[in-house]
Amino acid sequence: MVRLAILASGNGTNAQRISEYFSGNSQVSVDCIVYNKRDAFVAERARKLGVPAYYFGRADFYDNGRVLQFLKERGIDWVILAGFLWLVPEDILKAFPNRIINIHPALLPNYGGKGMYGHHVHEAVIANKESESGITIHIVDNHYDRGTILFQAKCELTAADTPDTLADKIHQLEQRYFPEVIEKTVLQ
Ligand code: GAR
Repeated sequence: MVRLAILASGNGTNAQRISEYFSGNSQVSVDCIVYNKRDAFVAERARKLGVPAYYFGRADFYDNGRVLQFLKERGIDWVILAGFLWLVPEDILKAFPNRIINIHPALLPNYGGKGMYGHHVHEAVIANKESESGITIHIVDNHYDRGTILFQAKCELTAADTPDTLADKIHQLEQRYFPEVIEKTVLQ
């Protein structure tokens, strides 16, 4: 069994979709959800799904190694970033070389980097009057949004689109493709 840990910071729609997709799967399982904002709605989703969820703060990620120790103790094989908004600490990167996958709500290398997350991305895309946007699923390295790209999917934009309508289009792409791409990648 390939064991996944999902890291999330907020709403958790991707974490939920991934958990549901792999529920009952004989080869891949979501072992746990780790979140880094105490009031993140993802914790409530995890409770309803019956997936164990654990809160860790900044020091646990960056100073005392608790998150890495936790991932090791649980025998995690791959780490999935699903709306996780901090840079992955060096010790975790080293312990999971090319085994951390992120989803970004734009067509990287455009609209990536520090500060480019969630709605900020959609606002920038709309402000620049782009004719398309999309999602990028990629391997994580020690820079924001820069690792090897595994998959991209696009959506068209019209003059009528707003950051909110774009966010809806992006969420649809994420829900449709992220679990499948994870499955293919971790079973390769
Ligand atoms: C998703 O759209 C994801 O692509 C984005 O945050 C959202 C989280 O939604 N990630 C980033 O912006 C990473 N730079 P969710 O919590 O409902 O899954």
